[in-house]
Amino acid sequence: MAMAFFGLSLVLLLSMVSPATSSCNKNDKSSLLQFIAGLSFEDSVTIPWQDGTDCCEWEGITCGRSGVVIEIFLASRSLEGSISPSLGNLKGLQRLNLSYNSLSGTLPSELMSSGTIKVLDVSFNRLSGVLQESLPSIPGGQLQALNISSNLFTGEFPSTMWENTRNLAAINASNNSFQGWIPSSFCMRSTSFVVLDLSYNQFSGSIPAGLGKCSALRVLKAGHNNLSGPLPDELYDATSLEYLSLPNNGLQGLLDGAHIMKLRNLTNLDLGGNRLNGKIPHSIGQLKRLEELHLGNNNMTGELPSSLSNCTDITMIDLKGNNFSGELHKVNFFNLLNLEVLDLLYNNFTGTIPQSIYSCSNMIALRLSGNNLHGQLSPRIGNLKSLVFLSLGDNKFTNITNTLQILKNCKNLTSLLIGANFKGEAMPEDETIDGFQNLRALSISECSLSGKIPLWLSKLKNLEMLFLQRNQLSGSIPAWIKNLTSLFHLDLSYNNLEGEIPVALMEMPMLTTEVAAIHSVFELPVYLGHSLQYRIISTFPKTLDLGHNNLTGAIPQDFVHLKLLAKLNLSFNALTGEIPQQLGNLTNLQVLDLSSNHLAGAIPLALNNLHFLSKFNVSHNDLEGPIPSVGQLSTFPSSSFDGNPKLCGIMVAKLCDSAEAPPVSVPSTEQTIKSGAFVIAFGAFFVVGVLYDQIVLSRYFG
Ligand SMILES: *[C@@H]1O[C@H](CO)[C@@H](O)[C@H](O)[C@H]1NC(C)=O
Ligand SMILES: *[C@@H]1O[C@H](CO)[C@@H](O)[C@H](O)[C@H]1NC(C)=O
Ligand SMILES: *[C@@H]1O[C@H](CO)[C@@H](O)[C@H](O)[C@H]1NC(C)=O
Ligand SMILES: *[C@@H]1O[C@H](CO)[C@@H](O)[C@H](O)[C@H]1NC(C)=O
Ligand SMILES: *[C@@H]1O[C@H](CO)[C@@H](O)[C@H](O)[C@H]1NC(C)=O
Ligand SMILES: *[C@@H]1O[C@H](CO)[C@@H](O)[C@H](O)[C@H]1NC(C)=O
Ligand SMILES: *[C@@H]1O[C@H](CO)[C@@H](O)[C@H](O)[C@H]1NC(C)=O
Ligand SMILES: *[C@@H]1O[C@H](CO)[C@@H](O)[C@H](O)[C@H]1NC(C)=O
Ligand SMILES: *[C@@H]1O[C@H](CO)[C@@H](O)[C@H](O)[C@H]1NC(C)=O
Ligand SMILES: *[C@@H]1O[C@H](CO)[C@@H](O)[C@H](O)[C@H]1NC(C)=O
Ligand SMILES: *[C@@H]1O[C@H](CO)[C@@H](O)[C@H](O)[C@H]1NC(C)=O
Ligand SMILES: *[C@@H]1O[C@H](CO)[C@@H](O)[C@H](O)[C@H]1NC(C)=O
Repeated sequence: MAMAFFGLSLVLLLSMVSPATSSCNKNDKSSLLQFIAGLSFEDSVTIPWQDGTDCCEWEGITCGRSGVVIEIFLASRSLEGSISPSLGNLKGLQRLNLSYNSLSGTLPSELMSSGTIKVLDVSFNRLSGVLQESLPSIPGGQLQALNISSNLFTGEFPSTMWENTRNLAAINASNNSFQGWIPSSFCMRSTSFVVLDLSYNQFSGSIPAGLGKCSALRVLKAGHNNLSGPLPDELYDATSLEYLSLPNNGLQGLLDGAHIMKLRNLTNLDLGGNRLNGKIPHSIGQLKRLEELHLGNNNMTGELPSSLSNCTDITMIDLKGNNFSGELHKVNFFNLLNLEVLDLLYNNFTGTIPQSIYSCSNMIALRLSGNNLHGQLSPRIGNLKSLVFLSLGDNKFTNITNTLQILKNCKNLTSLLIGANFKGEAMPEDETIDGFQNLRALSISECSLSGKIPLWLSKLKNLEMLFLQRNQLSGSIPAWIKNLTSLFHLDLSYNNLEGEIPVALMEMPMLTTEVAAIHSVFELPVYLGHSLQYRIISTFPKTLDLGHNNLTGAIPQDFVHLKLLAKLNLSFNALTGEIPQQLGNLTNLQVLDLSSNHLAGAIPLALNNLHFLSKFNVSHNDLEGPIPSVGQLSTFPSSSFDGNPKLCGIMVAKLCDSAEAPPVSVPSTEQTIKSGAFVIAFGAFFVVGVLYDQIVLSRYFG
């Protein structure tokens, strides 16, 4: 045993000068050696503990007066293996910190029931199993802080053991898989319980009324569980609460005005992603310390209370995805000079943008999209010098010329989303529209704008995404598009563009050459489609969408250069000629839609090389010959090929003429494995993209 241990240890350079004031307790030493024997180490990592030496001198060990081990600190030591119950034999152990390792197995109940341990931190490991209900060996126990967060624990959370703890101050059990009810007993004896974090588990049932007894509780977090029911009235007796965070559960009921005003020290209220209804109570104005208010994605109604103006410390108001209504003028934003984020996406606010918003000079992100606001933008928005993200889309704002002339002075703007407004106006082609140097995402979609793709866009050197779909833009696609050297997502669909697909489009640098992605993030998560939410700009798919226009001519062979393209849509145009087999080189394609054109000839077998393809459509053309019966293309439904009378194959239930060349055999593409890889790759993108809260959605990009 000892020999094996010696083999593991590094040469120990003990400081021999320090006089052994107290040498190690024998029993403690043997418990520690048992503990270390239960561990395993990655190569070249070890803990230099040697049997022949004084364990009080060992790294990570602190002894008390009579040589009793009182603290073990072995955080971030790449420890693997399990935690030996022998640590429970350390009669004087007060602090145990094994956080940030790779420990597995269970947490010995001896540690939970130790009568001496005050601080137990095993967070960020791989511990699993059910936590045993354990009664402290010394009545009352000493436990003050328990951090078991970011592990793999399951089962119910212990409840009776807290009935006897007197000194409990903090529990963090977040990021596990605990189930069942939240115990109500934390404060039966403990009067100094300050922090409870149970977020990211699978707790169900309602929030226990017993938490109201926690008169010292400052932080209560239990977001991302399956909690239901209303917030219990008793909870508001915990008047020391500063941080009340219960997002993404199934909580119901009202935010009661008489109750909420009792929490006068509240700085952060997060109840987003629940099923709350009713209004924001007027008494919210009494929460003078409130800094963040998150009530997004609920079912709340009514006007904003004017008293919100009294929350002068507020930096973040997130009310998106509710049914709030009325005019924003009710709130006097003059007082909210600390406001940095105002997110009112998807509500039913009416009227105009109140002038007082323009005094919030610290505003970084302002999102008013998806409401019923009207009017013209005020030049005073130029006061918002820190504004980086502005989304006004899907309202009834007018005068796009005015809007752009004003906004070009917001020099720090990187995201400007103003689509679905300005119905039927003309696209400003004015040379005086410049500025926008820092713009990375621009959406002016769904405005039915007439005119051409304006030249001033060519100056937006940092533009990465451009959305101009669903307008009535005419003329051709300008060759200068390639001058937008950062552009990787271009949507021009549903316009009246004509002429040929310019070869310049095949020279777009971001689609042709692999460059390191810039991980710029949106200040607010943006929404696209029905379920996708994006936070990081570069996780948007590289897209060229020219569908539903009046483009003519052949598909240029030069498409071969757009190696990085993920989505190509040329559907519903008047394209002629054959499908260039060079499209088979675009191996990153996930979506290829060439439907409803006048394409002729055979389906190139090279398209079978598109292993990531999950949507493919060549229907309604004049294609002929066999549909490949093996490979990637054979995995798509007949609707991908319909409306081409001269195509044959099993897919369209038409036998191929034997005179026709049989399909060239290509190696099986193992479709299931490939599409699995796609799901994983995309899933990873999605996880990175989704950093914040959940969603409300529409087709509209907000
Ligand atoms: C445990 O150690 C980690 C890493 O040094 C530290 O962040 C954490 O605060 C410690 N835990 C306690 C309860 O002090
Ligand atoms: C674990 O939680 C305790 C109590 O909240 C805290 O003091 C400690 O720093 C946490 N540990 C880590 C590694 O964050
Ligand atoms: C609890 O631990 C998690 C990490 O596991 C950390 O992110 C969170 O901030 C902690 N909660 C509190 C209240 O400190
Ligand atoms: C609120 O905070 C103040 C100062 O931070 C403190 O003195 C007061 O006791 C707190 N109120 C409650 C009910 O905890
Ligand atoms: C939202 O509230 C309305 C009444 O205000 C109710 O009819 C509706 O069912 C609620 N929706 C959900 C999803 O709870
Ligand atoms: C703001 O607070 C002051 C005093 O606390 C009160 O007189 C005033 O009515 C409040 N304003 C609003 C709009 O509620
Ligand atoms: C939005 O408000 C308008 C008028 O205030 C009302 O007519 C309309 O029904 C509301 N829409 C929804 C979806 O509640
Ligand atoms: C604008 O952006 C620049 C560069 O990112 C930054 O240094 C500056 O502080 C910003 N201006 C304001 C008013 O936030
Ligand atoms: C639109 O804005 C421009 C520039 O600010 C202004 O000259 C014009 O009169 C406005 N048009 C309408 C219809 O308000
Ligand atoms: C596009 O860039 C080329 C040089 O790369 C330049 O000659 C041309 O004037 C630019 N076009 C526009 C519209 O900026
Ligand atoms: C498409 O272009 C053709 C030829 O330029 C023209 O005859 C036709 O009217 C256009 N169709 C539409 C819908 O604009
Ligand atoms: C396209 O793919 C074919 C076959 O995979 C290959 O021979 C050819 O070199 C590729 N062309 C380009 C431009 O990459």
